[in-house]
Amino acid sequence: MRGAKTKLSPEALEYLAAHSRQDEVLARVERETAGMPRAMMQISPEQGALMELLVRLAGARDALEVGTFTGYSAICVARGLPTDGRLTCLELEREYADIAQRNVEAAGLADRVTINVGPADEALEAMPEEPAFDFVFLDADKTGYPAYYELILPRMRPGALLLIDNILMDGDVVDPEPGSSAEVIAALNAKVAADERVDAAFAMVADGLAFVRKR
Ligand SMILES: C[S@@+](CC[C@H](N)C(=O)[O-])C[C@H]1O[C@@H](n2cnc3c(N)ncnc32)[C@H](O)[C@@H]1O
Repeated sequence: MRGAKTKLSPEALEYLAAHSRQDEVLARVERETAGMPRAMMQISPEQGALMELLVRLAGARDALEVGTFTGYSAICVARGLPTDGRLTCLELEREYADIAQRNVEAAGLADRVTINVGPADEALEAMPEEPAFDFVFLDADKTGYPAYYELILPRMRPGALLLIDNILMDGDVVDPEPGSSAEVIAALNAKVAADERVDAAFAMVADGLAFVRKR
């Protein structure tokens, strides 16, 4: 069996988070979100720092986020864009979208971020089926991922990068319960791994992150 290259303690993971760039705006978003019932949904500081860097490295100008919650990842993605870049966020819940909007404004990014409220599949279907995005972050309801994947791909430019979050589902993808979200994600992982339309790499960032480049 191929084993892990490192043994990580909780302290080592905390060290990673502590050494990831996080300014006062993001620290406040993290603090305030921590008081909410579903705070665990927020990405980690080290994932946010990585995503900002990736958006910048990709030279992305037109970005899409599916699943915004209180806006932590949206701020990271938007910061990686040039000043005339655009980030479109899709978020189901009005309450979360309103908080994210306030946080994006506090970060001084309101001019490049638009938050659409409603089901992501409907919003994606309403977008023209043409290559528009050069960076996409998928982090919404897990059972919707397979449909989102097929809706997102045609809307990505060749060479564009898609990040898919939570591909490990706390490790449950290894032996998923029949009918569970983990089973859905496991099937999608197998599909992505064999998909001739993309280059793909799976990495142990947070709860697992797929790096998917459209060919
Ligand atoms: C894991 S959280 C996103 C975390 C966010 N990326 C962050 O960094 O804080 C998933 C989000 O997807 C939203 N969501 C769930 N179902 C959705 C749907 N059908 N369409 C759009 N958003 C959805 C949830 O309301 C939630 O805010």
